[in-house]
Amino acid sequence: MIKLKNIDKVYRTDKIETLALKEIDLEVKKNEFLSIMGPSGCGKSTLLNIMGLLDQPSKGEIYIDAEQVMTFKDKKLAKLRNKKIGFIFQSFHLINDLSVVDNVEIPLLYRKMSGSERRRRALAALEKVGLNTRTKHFPNQLSGGQRQRVAIARAIVGEPEIILADEPTGNLDSNMGQEIIDILHNLHKNENTTIVMVTHDEHIAKQTERIIRLFDGAMVN
Ligand SMILES: Nc1ncnc2c1ncn2[C@@H]1O[C@H](COP(=O)(O)OP(=O)(O)O)[C@@H](O)[C@H]1O
Ligand SMILES: [Mg+2]
Repeated sequence: MIKLKNIDKVYRTDKIETLALKEIDLEVKKNEFLSIMGPSGCGKSTLLNIMGLLDQPSKGEIYIDAEQVMTFKDKKLAKLRNKKIGFIFQSFHLINDLSVVDNVEIPLLYRKMSGSERRRRALAALEKVGLNTRTKHFPNQLSGGQRQRVAIARAIVGEPEIILADEPTGNLDSNMGQEIIDILHNLHKNENTTIVMVTHDEHIAKQTERIIRLFDGAMVN
């Protein structure tokens, strides 16, 4: 489903050069649930952003469904990303002056679709994460766990085949965190979604099918 071949990522600023990823080779199979672990600064977010086509590697190749996507122009890349990939972030990244349901509709604004169809799909996504009674609320009226569930609804509203989650439970207590992980497990099981999740939590990582460990930008297992 996703294949990374010999990926390097170098960040350059005026004075310093950081080699954030070194020779990463990784294949994620369709319907796999994988976690990425490693100390702070080891390149986890960089790796996830490259997989999600949000950032470009300095070297190497990226394949999505056997297509070499590095050759794609920006517009084609954005379209592919919108269709195939849903993102979930540690700090939710919701828009505070939009209601819950309007936040969830955002990915659909980039598709040709009527307003009523957008609304119908957003409400269905909110139902899947158990938030159908909070659709008119605003993000700051919700708990952290509820905000993350809105972010998951937004990630799944376009029915992506892949979900990339960067420390989705990092801002939540362990009970709320487990609720979020349970939702991801259901998506994996019921909708055959391929999931790659960054986490600091061994207990959470152990619930996934495979753990990748990074250290100083390199894969260590
Ligand atoms: N935009 C950036 N510019 C320069 N250096 C960066 C940038 N983003 C990340 N880095 C550096 O790359 C390394 C990996 O960062 P990151 O992928 O965020 O790590 P993690 O998510 O594992 O904490 C770190 O040393 C970080 O300081
Ligand atoms: Mg990170």
